[in-house]
Amino acid sequence: MRSKLFVPGSRPELFPKALAGQADALSFDLEDSVLETAKAGARRLVAQLLQSPEAAASKKILLVRVNGLTTPQFEADLAAVVGPRLDLVNVPKVESADDIRSVARALARLEKDRGLARPIGILANVESPRGLRFAAEIAGADPRVAGLQVGFADLLEPLGIDRADAAAIHQLQLAVRLAAGEAGLWACDAVYANFKDAEGFRTEALAAKRLGYIGKSCIHPSQVALANEVFRPTDQEIAFAQRVVEAAGRSTAGAFTLDGRMIDAPFIRRARAVLAIARQLPPPAA
Ligand code: COA
Ligand code: MG
Repeated sequence: MRSKLFVPGSRPELFPKALAGQADALSFDLEDSVLETAKAGARRLVAQLLQSPEAAASKKILLVRVNGLTTPQFEADLAAVVGPRLDLVNVPKVESADDIRSVARALARLEKDRGLARPIGILANVESPRGLRFAAEIAGADPRVAGLQVGFADLLEPLGIDRADAAAIHQLQLAVRLAAGEAGLWACDAVYANFKDAEGFRTEALAAKRLGYIGKSCIHPSQVALANEVFRPTDQEIAFAQRVVEAAGRSTAGAFTLDGRMIDAPFIRRARAVLAIARQLPPPAA
């Protein structure tokens, strides 16, 4: 999931454009991009979209960002969107392992009632000081948690931390990546709201890639191609991973030298992971 494009649930005219685009994943939003007065309508529209032949035919990962657990919308949101075409439910403002366990119980109930065989995963947002403090517990709270999503607007704005402070952003990205890693999960990087600033988006995405993030949230179609490019392993990385795996196959020792570097078990595991990512990706855009 190199790119995850947000689509406000209240703007159905964007749905076909999003489905036709290049994003690996689409996140239909019922939360912050939808006005209170439009919540119920958006919920219906997103439910309809998920039940449509267009959604069934799409190979994209489909998510819905529901309203938070403490909101009056949460239960109705979940009830409306649980179905065979929902891959992940994105839960905002998660603050504890208990939050995750209650989402997991609600999902299990709905899946059972609806005879769904495939469990729906959870993408948990870490976007508050408390959420960050408990991020590793949140990640490990239930097998449904597939990944952690770092969110900066909700985390930084109330604290007055400047979004342009790259050192602060780096520290938060690393903390969330390590928390996800402790549970063996992936992490997805945050939205970059200034969508006219392609260089700013690319710089932040590259920093996230270096921290092992698998992709970045996008709010505008112009950001999708940038994310797809940044989070695709480079030809060089793939070629090197290939050589590491081949050399490991030939090596009679656990540690050996390749290009003047020591290679042993964690490097070999990483090389296999890079090749697995490369195999899943569509061919590069022309
Ligand atoms: N999904 C699909 N298509 C989108 C899109 C999206 N998120 N955002 C823009 N588009 C389309 C536009 O409809 C337009 O299509 P057109 O060429 O057929 O007219 C094209 O992409 C270019 O869009 P543009 O005119 O530059 O943007 P805009 O002013 O219409 O919208 C935003 C800008 C930020 C309001 C809009 O991109 C948006 O709502 N993004 C998602 C916001 C969101 O979900 N936030 C919550 C998560 S933080
Ligand atoms: Mg938010």
